[in-house]
Amino acid sequence: MPLTSAPEKLSPFRLGDWTTQQLANVEQALTRWVACPKDAPAPAGLGDAMRYAVLDGGKRLRPLLVLAACEAVGGNPQAALRAACAVELIHAYSLVHDDMPCMDNDVLRRGKPTVHVQFGEAQALLAGDALQALAFEFLTPDDDSVDAPTQARLCRMLAQAAGFQGMAGGQAIDLASVGLPLNSVQLHEMHRLKTGALLQASVMMGASCGPALAAVRDALRDYGAAVGLAFQVVDDILDVTADSATLGKTAGKDAAQDKPTFVSLMGLDASRHYAQELLARAFTSLSVIDASHDKGRHNTDALHALADMLVNRGH
Ligand code: IPE
Ligand code: IPE
Ligand code: MG
Ligand code: MG
Ligand code: MG
Repeated sequence: MPLTSAPEKLSPFRLGDWTTQQLANVEQALTRWVACPKDAPAPAGLGDAMRYAVLDGGKRLRPLLVLAACEAVGGNPQAALRAACAVELIHAYSLVHDDMPCMDNDVLRRGKPTVHVQFGEAQALLAGDALQALAFEFLTPDDDSVDAPTQARLCRMLAQAAGFQGMAGGQAIDLASVGLPLNSVQLHEMHRLKTGALLQASVMMGASCGPALAAVRDALRDYGAAVGLAFQVVDDILDVTADSATLGKTAGKDAAQDKPTFVSLMGLDASRHYAQELLARAFTSLSVIDASHDKGRHNTDALHALADMLVNRGH
């Protein structure tokens, strides 16, 4: 009889299985929490518009990044689930407003008529406002599930990523740039703010749900910056190469509205190449964590697979 048993064979990471499991929790929490407390339902149809904007659609990339980063640091899953839902609410609100006639004037989102088409402009504006507020309510539960310093940290990170230093600031640049040939530095700055900030914050909020060395945190920040930028580069590519049915939103809008994009700046091939370069940068950041002396504590499988999926989606 052998003295030691054979080493257990490690099963390969399967993103599909992991995602299915994580999203079951996210969907359940969003369905339960968005505007339907039994004692205080949202008035005058507002809850319907909020639920329409959030439930039943979307790739949920930001929640997945939060949960994967939390897993990488062995963090508090309850805090991460709240953070995951909060980031998705901010994202959903940003889409509602982005689609309004005063911004991109879009009629299709997540395969359905946009919120203002379905419910009217005023209700869409209010649904966005209410979703933003609800995100911060999610982050501040009045039980013991998330300690107060973590709550405060998560609120600050999300507020910064959503506000003038992040998404809202980037959207302002986007609108001010219609018809203008932005140079590479300007375009990077716009994308970093309008899309990258919230994606990077997703990673850092997940990482903030647990303990991590400064070097690990720095590596995750670099990873978040790379995937955040790569994501919008790919969004710009898909606007040109994919059809509306596949995207669930109107294809070809960027050129039609004369928006500066990576495709308009450098062309399709160079944009594709750049997205792969950013993916390699994201992997390099993760390899710093994988090589760190406490690597046994860090499982970056999901972060690897998500970066690959979000850059290579639709190709
Ligand atoms: C679209 O984001 C808007 C951008 C920031 C480019 P997503 O492609 O993540 O949209 P959903 O959530 O899957 O609908
Ligand atoms: C929107 O960018 C980014 C947001 C902050 C919502 P886009 O205008 O390119 O997003 P899509 O293509 O409409 O999803
Ligand atoms: Mg836009
Ligand atoms: Mg848009
Ligand atoms: Mg776009």
